Amino acid sequence: MVGLPEPFGDFQLEIYLQGLSGVVPTLPMVFEELERRAQSALPSSVWSYVAGGAGDEATQRANVAAFQTWGLIPRMLVGAVERDLSVELWGRRWPAPVFLAPIGVIGLCAQSGHGDLETARAAARADVPMVASTLTVDPLEDVAAELGETPGFFQLYTPKDRELAESLVARAERAGFAGIVVTLDTWVTGWRPRDLATSNFPQLRGHCLANYFTDQNIHQHGYSNDLAPASV
Ligand SMILES: Cc1cc2nc3c(=O)[nH]c(=O)nc-3n(C[C@H](O)[C@H](O)[C@H](O)COP(=O)(O)O)c2cc1C
Repeated sequence: MVGLPEPFGDFQLEIYLQGLSGVVPTLPMVFEELERRAQSALPSSVWSYVAGGAGDEATQRANVAAFQTWGLIPRMLVGAVERDLSVELWGRRWPAPVFLAPIGVIGLCAQSGHGDLETARAAARADVPMVASTLTVDPLEDVAAELGETPGFFQLYTPKDRELAESLVARAERAGFAGIVVTLDTWVTGWRPRDLATSNFPQLRGHCLANYFTDQNIHQHGYSNDLAPASV
C-alpha cells in the first residue's frame, strides 16, 4: 500500500516560513534564472548536451510551445482534505501521476558528480517515480538503493549484444526496479549542431557508462561494440 506523499505544494511553506526570519532561498525559483545559473555552473560541453537539440532546434521549440497550451484545472468540492495523487496503472498503484523521465548525463549535472543518485534521492523525497537512464555515472544498483520505497523504472537502450541486454534486464530486476522502459528511438544520434561544433559526445569520452563497465559481460569479453549506443 502506497502511503500518501507529502503534498508538493507544502514545499513552498518551508520557504515562506523561513522568510519570516529573513532567510530567502539560495536556489533559483524563477525558471529563467535556473536556466541561467545552470549554464554558468555547468561545463559548456554538458550544457550544450543538455540544452541542445537536433537541426535548428525548431522541433524542440515547437514541443515547448505545444506543451504550453496545456493547463491544470483545479477541481472543487471533491473532498481534497486527504490529498491523494496516486494512480492505478499496469496493475498497481503509483504514488504520483507523473514520472521523472530518463536523462542520460544527469549524473554529470550535479556538483557532486553523482547526479543520478541525487535525482533518485529527490524522487524518494517527493515520492515521484523515477525512470533511471541506461547512461549513468553510478551503476543502476546504487541508483535503485537511493529510491527507498519510491518505485523506479530502468530505461534500456537495448544493446546489440544479447547477453549484455539480458544481463542489464536481470540486474534491473534484482535491484528492485518495477519495470523496464525500452527506448525505441535513437539508434542513430540526432544531428546536433551544438555538440558537433565542439566535437562533444560524452559517452565516447567514457562518461556515464557505469552500467556497462560494471557488467560481467563487459568484463568477460573485454570489449563491447555497445559501449556508446546512439543515445539522447
Ligand atoms: C539531456 C537529455 C538526456 C536524455 N537522456 C535520455 C536517456 O538517457 N534515455 C531516454 O530514454 N531518453 C532520454 N532523454 C529523453 C527524455 O527522457 C524525454 O523523453 C524527452 O526529453 C521528451 O520529453 P521533453 O519533451 O519533456 O523533453 C533525454 C533528454 C534530454 C533532454
